[in-house]
Amino acid sequence: MKKLGLTAGTAAIAPAVFANDQPDIQFLNRNTTWDAAQPIRLGLIGAGIMGTEDMNTALRHANVQMTAVCDLYDGRLESAKQKWGSNIFTTKDHKELLKRSDVDAVIIATPDHWHKQISIDAMNAGKHVYCEKPMVHSVAQGMDVINAWKKSGKVMVVGSQGLSSLGNEKAKELLAAGVIGDIVYAEGFWARMSPEGAWQYNVPADGSPKTVDWKRYISNTTDREWDPLRFFRWRNYLDYGTGMSGDLFVHLFSSLHFITNSKGPSKVSSMGGLRYWKDGREVPDVLLGSFDYPETPEHPGFNLSLRCNFVDGTSGTTYLRIVGTKGSMDVKWEEVVVKLNQNAESDDPFMKEQAKLRAASGQEERAKILPPRETSYTAERSWKGAHYDHFGNWFNAIRTGGTVVEDPVFGFRAAAPALLCNDSYFQDKFIKWDPVNMKLV
Ligand SMILES: NC(=O)c1ccc[n+]([C@@H]2O[C@H](COP(=O)([O-])OP(=O)(O)OC[C@H]3O[C@@H](n4cnc5c(N)ncnc54)[C@H](O)[C@@H]3O)[C@@H](O)[C@H]2O)c1
Repeated sequence: MKKLGLTAGTAAIAPAVFANDQPDIQFLNRNTTWDAAQPIRLGLIGAGIMGTEDMNTALRHANVQMTAVCDLYDGRLESAKQKWGSNIFTTKDHKELLKRSDVDAVIIATPDHWHKQISIDAMNAGKHVYCEKPMVHSVAQGMDVINAWKKSGKVMVVGSQGLSSLGNEKAKELLAAGVIGDIVYAEGFWARMSPEGAWQYNVPADGSPKTVDWKRYISNTTDREWDPLRFFRWRNYLDYGTGMSGDLFVHLFSSLHFITNSKGPSKVSSMGGLRYWKDGREVPDVLLGSFDYPETPEHPGFNLSLRCNFVDGTSGTTYLRIVGTKGSMDVKWEEVVVKLNQNAESDDPFMKEQAKLRAASGQEERAKILPPRETSYTAERSWKGAHYDHFGNWFNAIRTGGTVVEDPVFGFRAAAPALLCNDSYFQDKFIKWDPVNMKLV
């Protein structure tokens, strides 16, 4: 295991020595330096919670500037000017931003129902795209984005930043090296128990049709009267959001597909209910998903179980475990914990004596319960994080004419099973999916 750590491609690893009964700990870090000679000028479309976090992370990179922002709410445009300077261009029409020659690339962090159209418009206008997850709002939209991307020759990346993490890269390397044997099962969850965690975001007091371009917001979906909850808490409604699976399962699919090289499951089913947050939302607050991944050239057949619970009184956490024939890996962005079965003989003199007595009396050797052998790979504190690296990979591909892992094909293959969970839940049936050709069966 130590040897494996030391041969990591992108990760520099320094082993540490621990007492025999402690888990073995190895440290991960990244040596990569990106050539940043070419300046990149960014526009932000959707300047809410994640758009702001995305832009601030992007601006930590060398030679990256922000020139323009588009949002539908005055309050967000005003706070963008306060954060990033009064000289930035602001608009409520994304096409106005895309016309600008001082924008090379855009970050799209609008609600999900605008991802497809704005991504396509941006690439058609010659801009590179960082689009937040899930890449699309429905499975029917996936190929339109892929086709526009192929035609444009631009670099488009989808925003499941976890797959640019040291933890995901290490897990991929360990699985390929056979450390946990053949994958047979994987499981993941998101657990939360707070109003914000359950999407009950603050509704600004000045939010009204005077300060929000509501007509534009709903121009690609059902026509309705102004409703501040549908604008500021859009995740709760199917016209704009994609439920728990589109919001959160999609991150777990992205990491799992990256680690296993999988193109996706062939069968999707989900179950759940609205148990607690009965605030008029249209989507469940507890959701379970089961997925069948048949054998492919990339991996043996395995099953995946996912759950999301917004009524979890114990925690606010997330988790992904990959289980193989020899052991398991608990995968986080900044850590991988490998647990392997042990068949080692016990050194305990009492146990040895008991074994001798059993052997002398002709009794069978008694099975022992042993703790699994544990190795933990942990990112060093100096690592700048998955989000920083996700932007680094995108900028590097733009500057070098290269590619990114989470391109629209990858992004659609991660989004599709998540979106199909909603179809399974609302239609009360299994959904069959062809992950290679990216089609419903
Ligand atoms: N990668 C991650 O970890 C992560 C985390 C949170 C959110 N997200 C994704 O980011 C996106 C935004 O989520 P959020 O939590 O920031 O939502 P938010 O409501 O805080 O922000 C969305 C912003 O988009 C604006 N907007 C709506 N329609 C628009 C349009 N047509 N043109 C321009 N602006 C428009 C709204 O005014 C709002 O300011 C979602 O797709 C979400 O899934 C990703």
